[in-house]
Amino acid sequence: MKIAIGHTRWATHGVASNENAHPHFDSENSLALVHNGIIENFDEIKNFLINKKKIFLSETDSEVLAHLIAYNYKKDIIKALKSSLDIIKGSYAIAFIHKDFPKRIILASKDSPMAIGFTENKKEIIISSDPNSFVGRNLHVLFLQNDELGFIENNEIFIFNKNLKKIAKQAEKVNCKNISFSKNNFEHYMLKEIYEQPFTIQKTILGRISKNSQNCYFEEHTIDIDFLNRFKNIKLIACGTSYHASLLASYLFEDISKIETRAYIGSEMRFQNILNIKESLIIAISQSGETADTILPVKELKKNGATVLSIINKSNSTLSRESDYSLYLKAGPEFSVCSTKAFTSQISLLLLLAIHFEKLKNNNKSNSDYLIKNLLKVPNEIKKLLKRAEEIKKLSIKYAKYENFYFLGKNLMYVTAVEAALKLKEISYINATAYPAGEMKHGPLALVNGNLPIVAFMANDKTYDKMYSNVIEAKTRGSPILAIAKKKDKDIEKIADDVFYIDDSIDETAIFSSSVFGQLFAYYIAKERNTDIDQPRNLAKSVTVE
Ligand code: G6P
Repeated sequence: MKIAIGHTRWATHGVASNENAHPHFDSENSLALVHNGIIENFDEIKNFLINKKKIFLSETDSEVLAHLIAYNYKKDIIKALKSSLDIIKGSYAIAFIHKDFPKRIILASKDSPMAIGFTENKKEIIISSDPNSFVGRNLHVLFLQNDELGFIENNEIFIFNKNLKKIAKQAEKVNCKNISFSKNNFEHYMLKEIYEQPFTIQKTILGRISKNSQNCYFEEHTIDIDFLNRFKNIKLIACGTSYHASLLASYLFEDISKIETRAYIGSEMRFQNILNIKESLIIAISQSGETADTILPVKELKKNGATVLSIINKSNSTLSRESDYSLYLKAGPEFSVCSTKAFTSQISLLLLLAIHFEKLKNNNKSNSDYLIKNLLKVPNEIKKLLKRAEEIKKLSIKYAKYENFYFLGKNLMYVTAVEAALKLKEISYINATAYPAGEMKHGPLALVNGNLPIVAFMANDKTYDKMYSNVIEAKTRGSPILAIAKKKDKDIEKIADDVFYIDDSIDETAIFSSSVFGQLFAYYIAKERNTDIDQPRNLAKSVTVE
């Protein structure tokens, strides 16, 4: 069996350079190590090792692991690893090789995912910090849990618990063979994934709605009134685009299901005083199911007795293992760093949940059937919008020259604007700031001038008139205005320089077409600016460090 280790580094400590690239070595070059995670007490350990005459070549936190394990190695390499890990604070998925064991890869993980995929006969064993790397393969997969360590040698996998007792782990069969890396003739994964949305939304909702469009089902778990009655409120946790889906859900759960709801940013939640944990339904949302900033608060809440329902695109993820219940988006793998189809599937599923909760609470007197009927129209509305991509491209080319944008909206369109602004920032590197339109007069208006266009998300009947006034306030001060409005609202042409009309859908589903407009607008501006659309600088698809 030939062995090799490697790592694509997402820089935390030290710039992206050859010196900081993995693997890292100890001073005697006896071992080579790759690490995903963050060693929080690396400074302290580094000083200790420098005093022992160890020579450091990089600025990374990871390098201390290589020196420390080599320093602790007397006779038993596993014991050396264990005693090193005992003093490490932080998160890690580690793989290393040592010259005394030329056929062995040694591993450990804590708060950082590590999956071991292997063929039936174990002739091939692959270790990865993200099971996405198994795409195209049909493998058995073991997931290392916190504080477990082990090694691979001669087609065998050996895993130990924290007391160094050998344990037998149950493998899961993960079939990624039919998942294709193909871009299907699209220039970028992002564009391909944008165009998949009529189909992916269907995958998320169909099969969860009864034939007469009157009931919702979640095949993964029975969500009935007894389940719902256990909770007084809902707390959502997520990051990035998934956080924007959770913000939208906070409006939907309060408006439709009449349940008090709050959305939390994962990386903030850990430092907030969270009240009434046991009586809250915690809903964690993550495309990958591997985002450390979402998983860590989930773990803490679970310790304090929380019930966690997660909404995930990828099965076999860390978040699904940490949750009491998981619902899956079924949107298929998303490769573009900039999330598109996962977002629209998340909001479809969240809207369905909001409707389902309303129905459970109101028994036979539910008044949300019209919402289901409108949700079912969404795939077709998006199909129609995608046929108009050329119109959006022309608008994008016109606006690509600006360096700063305000994205405005009110109510559900405010959150839609926040997500659309994030798309533009991520892939075009243009500064786009989203505001609830009413906030403009409380500060942001000071920046408004002819060089700062406003992208106004107007497709919301509840707030259209107020939004109209807020847009006039910016127009009066010189901003070019690009409005996204419902077809019926033609009067917007009086004030906007450009208008893109979407179908006259209800407010709760206008978020879909408006979001797809935002995705394509960002995509074509980025293309015009020639940026790396699928892998924008400094960003990663799933961020497994805090
Ligand atoms: C990264 C990605 C974002 C994503 C965020 C949360 O930052 O670049 O596109 O929204 O992680 O990811 P998750 O997998 O938890 O939804």
